[in-house]
Amino acid sequence: MSDVRVETHGSTEDVTEALRADVREGLSATRKWLPSKWFYDARGSELFERITALPEYYPTRAEREILRVRSGAVAAATGAHTLVELGSGSSEKTRSLLDALRGNGTLSRFVPMDVSASALTEAADAVSRDYPDLSVHGVVGDFTASLAALPGSRPRLVAFLGGTIGNFPPDERAKFLASVRDVLTDGEWFLLGTDIVKDPATLVRAYDDAAGVTAEFNRNVLHVLNARLGADFDPGLFAHVAHWDADNEWIEMRLRARADTTVRIPGAGLEVSFAAGEEIRTEVSAKFREEGVRAELAGAGFALRHFWTDSGRRFAVSLAEAVS
Ligand code: SAH
Ligand code: TRP
Repeated sequence: MSDVRVETHGSTEDVTEALRADVREGLSATRKWLPSKWFYDARGSELFERITALPEYYPTRAEREILRVRSGAVAAATGAHTLVELGSGSSEKTRSLLDALRGNGTLSRFVPMDVSASALTEAADAVSRDYPDLSVHGVVGDFTASLAALPGSRPRLVAFLGGTIGNFPPDERAKFLASVRDVLTDGEWFLLGTDIVKDPATLVRAYDDAAGVTAEFNRNVLHVLNARLGADFDPGLFAHVAHWDADNEWIEMRLRARADTTVRIPGAGLEVSFAAGEEIRTEVSAKFREEGVRAELAGAGFALRHFWTDSGRRFAVSLAEAVS
């Protein structure tokens, strides 16, 4: 293994403090909610990897197909020296991009960033092993907080795959896109994976699989609160709900209390009561149309250069250039 580094933005105490603040705000609201980044401890990342292999979860396979077919075009258009990947997870699909950019002779550094230390470290080690003359510089951190300090020489290509952009509520989505644009100079590049609006049955199945892996993943946020804040959630008391919101064109994930229950969360100084049937909103996963993607990118200072879909038109990868 030649050149691999992992740096961490924010101490364990900072992370616990952020979780405490989110839990206080979200679980004292009239309609309870929790931010989705808290799914991803080591167990959460493992469960997500299992989701990507489920027969119902088409996005990973569709995006992999697009990247296999289009990575050569991405390399030719961008000539990137640095590939930054936000919310990188296992970086498994990213290898098509690494291969094409290496083949192009331009890429010298890969900078994966993820909140999940375990996923990031494993992925950085594996990429470094398989691409021995690539400099791999992993960052454990929150991509909504610390993009400014990302390393690497220009031109850079920032990849944000997996449809994770859909997990932001819409106002935060615009803020996030602006923050990515902010760290880039004109002529640098952004590669964005988005799931596409399609029939609700297919969408709901992708987020409510027969084997119950997604349900377990959703409940993992309760395990995280138990582990980090000493909470006493009984995760089995909460049912997984995946609901298609046709007005907002997003899937909404919820945890629904099966019975009246009171939960103590000492690390947040909270005691929270749930009535039977009461829900916590844990995640949205927005679905997109080409014109919406183009408009949101333009609003942040990116010109859409390519909008590629898989052969089944289920998922899209957009290549956009930072412009002023
Ligand atoms: N890109 C991978 C993983 C997608 S799942 C793929 O396409 O398969 C979403 C990833 O984003 C997870 O690895 C999760 O740990 C990470 N993530 C979620 N919120 C984050 C945040 N606020 N900052 C950094 N990473 C985050
Ligand atoms: N970025 C993924 C998506 O929106 C995350 C995800 C997949 C997810 N399945 C989930 C999040 C189930 C919460 C629950 O597709």
